[in-house]
Amino acid sequence: MGTEGRRQPESNTTVAGRATSALPVAKHPRTEAAGIKITQALLGEHGAMYPMLDLIEQTAPCADLSAIGTLVACLQSILGSHAAIEDDLLRPAIQAWLPPPINPTDHQVIAAGLASALASTETEEARCRLLATIAKTRAHFLKEETSIFVIAARELPPEEQEKLGAEWAGLRGVSLAENLLRKLAAMPGHNNEPPTQPDACGTV
Ligand SMILES: [Fe+2]
Ligand SMILES: [Fe+2]
Repeated sequence: MGTEGRRQPESNTTVAGRATSALPVAKHPRTEAAGIKITQALLGEHGAMYPMLDLIEQTAPCADLSAIGTLVACLQSILGSHAAIEDDLLRPAIQAWLPPPINPTDHQVIAAGLASALASTETEEARCRLLATIAKTRAHFLKEETSIFVIAARELPPEEQEKLGAEWAGLRGVSLAENLLRKLAAMPGHNNEPPTQPDACGTV
């Protein structure tokens, strides 16, 4: 999701003496336990992708053209699906607080960079394009974490953030067990204990 020209977060409070300008100021505070929010899910995806970016940066210098192609294909899969979720779920929900997107968007630049690396027939050229695209991806992630996700967490009501989080889980095939437990706990006669299901070994 591109962030060119977007306004920066307004919060500058401190926590334990540390600057927290990246922390959102929630306009819709709520205290009870809740499901996963869309920004939490997307931040988690960033966190899971950073080690993969590290690994590719470490292995690319010694990789041949075929190996570079494999690395690029992996990135196309994970970054492409991540960008699609942001474009399809998050951007429409917060469009009112964002300036019009600048074309090409960051997502388009990253996709084009990977495609050009994959199309390259020269090892050194493919390697340079791959590493340049990873650098662009890191910068893009940082912009989202310090601007776009902050806006979403601040402006969207928690229920909307969780609804989008549930849609994210459906798209990713992630089971939100906490939702199931809450529904069970609310059922008449339920003892509020989480269900235990023995596995094939008889353990729970
Ligand atoms: Fe993005
Ligand atoms: Fe992202």
